[in-house]
Order: sequence, then structure tokens, then C-alpha cells
Amino acid sequence: MTKINATITGIGAALPEYILNNEELSKMVDTTDEWIMTRIGIKTRHILKGEGKGSSDLGAEAVNKLLEKTNTKPEDIDLIICATVTPDMPFPATANIISDKVGIKNAFGFDLNAGCSGFLYSLATARMYVESGLYKKVIVVGAEKMSSIVNYQDRTTCPIFGDGAGAVLLEPTTDGSGIQDMILQSDGYGRAHLHMKAGGSVKPATHETVDAREHFIYQEGQPVFKAAVSNMADVSVEIMERNNLTSDDISWLVPHQANMRIIEATAKRMNLPKEKVMINIQEFGNTTAATLPLCIWQWEKQLKKGDNIILATFGAGFTWGSMYLKWGYDGNK
Ligand code: UT7
Repeated sequence: MTKINATITGIGAALPEYILNNEELSKMVDTTDEWIMTRIGIKTRHILKGEGKGSSDLGAEAVNKLLEKTNTKPEDIDLIICATVTPDMPFPATANIISDKVGIKNAFGFDLNAGCSGFLYSLATARMYVESGLYKKVIVVGAEKMSSIVNYQDRTTCPIFGDGAGAVLLEPTTDGSGIQDMILQSDGYGRAHLHMKAGGSVKPATHETVDAREHFIYQEGQPVFKAAVSNMADVSVEIMERNNLTSDDISWLVPHQANMRIIEATAKRMNLPKEKVMINIQEFGNTTAATLPLCIWQWEKQLKKGDNIILATFGAGFTWGSMYLKWGYDGNK
């Protein structure tokens, strides 16, 4: 029997209009364009403004564009998984809210929180539903309004994050394209270095937690940086080795966009030239679960059927992983 693979058949994205640049940030906190560019590599990030707007608004826009582009009716979708650390609300799932906004009526849906690895984990989960043969059209959407949990008084985190969303359609194929292999890992020891202190069941919201600014991202940059550099590069090299891929065989690396230095270290360990690495951190910053689809969306026209692509992530948890896929269509058509 021919093996069913899960392959990406289209991509859509959404970015809010407002752009926050380093000059404006340096009026808000004690920082400079030079520090941010040297240490992180970010020039601008998109920020969602407007009362009552949340991650689902960006997610719904990305999904609508995806449906339009792939000529897919919302009622034909079987499953929608939303990767996010900034859900509209603790419940119901943002996936359900997006479904309602775009008219997806015949699907089940849920959110998946794996920090910055959320999109990769969701793609891995969606893969299983498609490969089982039971589900034919699955949407994976990474949607984040990071600006809702960024402390704009903390210069160590506020330059890093941006808002955005990206969505892919995953469908079965027997032509050999699609997801070939993946390595997924997590280790809760890392939670000490990257988390949100209050607002969960351990420490529900009170006046005190709000006054202490505990509903924002807390990050100890250096231990996160060290773990990201070694783990993201390790799993990327491991997936190459176990699939007998040399750097010449790889068309593109799609790395999580957390820090230009982490991306460069990963590419170096994989022996890949910069031209083969998708990098948009300078424009969009770290959009958490939306970084990978935003890269693929920007590079779509350059992608060719059969391209070998490695996705690699690292994020809160800690969570990390890599995926090897063969691209399924010519992006310029
Ligand atoms: O996506 C989720 C996973 N997250 C990551 O992968 C992030 C990993 N971490 C990083 O990317 C980096 O650690 C940061 C970008 C967060 C920080 O860069 P760093 O090179 O590790 O800087 P540092 O924390 O060691 O700070 C160096 C200095 C400190 O001053 P002193 O103590 O040396 O006087 C900081 O106070 O830089 C100072 N600093 C700043 N200066 C100007 C920290 N933030 C800023 C700032 N502007 N925005």
C-alpha cells in the first residue's frame, strides 16, 4: 500500500498595520537601536492595536486568506489546531473562536501551547490525523498578540516580541512529498527561566499580581539563550544525520526567529550558507507560534516541489524540535 503523507498545500498570513520601530522603543525604555540590532537583530515589529482585538482576529485573517488562496470552503475543513501562548481568553479555545469567525462549521478544534515551538508541535499533531487517513483537510494556525503580555517597562524583553499569524492547510498525498521525519523534545526544568508568574491556577490574578506586573513575560535571557543555541542546533543536525542529508541536499532552513545569533549558530552547525536560511526577525521580531508560518509565507514564491526543508524551534517549557519535510508544490504558480 502507498504510504499517505501529510503535505502543506497552501499558506496564508496576517500582520497588524502598526509598526513599532527601535527609535520609538528607545523613547519607552533605556535602549538603543544599536544594542537591539547587535544583540537581537530586530529593527521593527508589528503590533495589534484597537480595543477588543485579540489573537483570533489575526488568526481568522490568516485562515481566511488561506481558504481563499487554496479555493477551500470553510465547511470542508475537518480539524483546526491553533498554536498560541496568547489565547483570546483562557477558555474557550482560540481555535473555536477563529472557526466561528471564518465559518468553519464541520470541524473540531483545539489550542496547543508549546511556547515558541507551538507551530511545530501543532504541525506534528496534525500530521498524525492526516496520515491516519481519517482527516483530509486540517488547518494549523499560529496566532499571537504578544504585545498583550509584553511589559513595555522591561527593556530586556520588550524589544523582542511582535504580533502576527500564519496558517497552513495540511492534506494527504501519496506523491512522496510532505512531512518525512520529526524530533520533538521538552523539559520542564526550563520553566524557571521563561514563564508568566501570575494568572494561572497557582497564582490567580489579584490587585497585588497586577501591581507587581506579574501578568507579563518573565525571561532570564542568558540561560534561555544558551539552551536555545545548543538544543535547536542539536536537533537540526540530528534530523539531517538520521535522514542522510548533507547541507547540499537542504534547500531551506526555517528557524524560529528569537535572536539572529541563535539562528546563525544553528545554520553554522548545519553547515548551511545564509542564503538558504529564512530570516525575517529584523522585520517581525519574535512572533512566538507565528514565526515559522510567517517565514514560509514570505518565501513561498521561491519554493519548489521537492525542496528539502528543515524546520527548527526552541521555546518556553523548554520545548524544542525539528522537522524534515519535502515541499509539495511550486510556490510561484
Ligand atoms: O523565543 C523564546 C526563546 N527566547 C529566546 O531564545 C531568547 C534568548 N535570549 C536572548 O536572545 C538574549 O539573552 C537577550 C536578547 C534576551 C539578551 O541578550 P544578552 O546578550 O544575553 O544580554 P544580557 O541579558 O547578558 O545583558 C547584557 C547587558 C546587561 O547590562 P549589564 O548588566 O552588562 O550592565 C543588560 O542590563 O545589556 C543590558 N540590556 C540592555 N541594554 C540596552 C538588556 N537589555 C537591554 C536593552 N538595551 N534592551
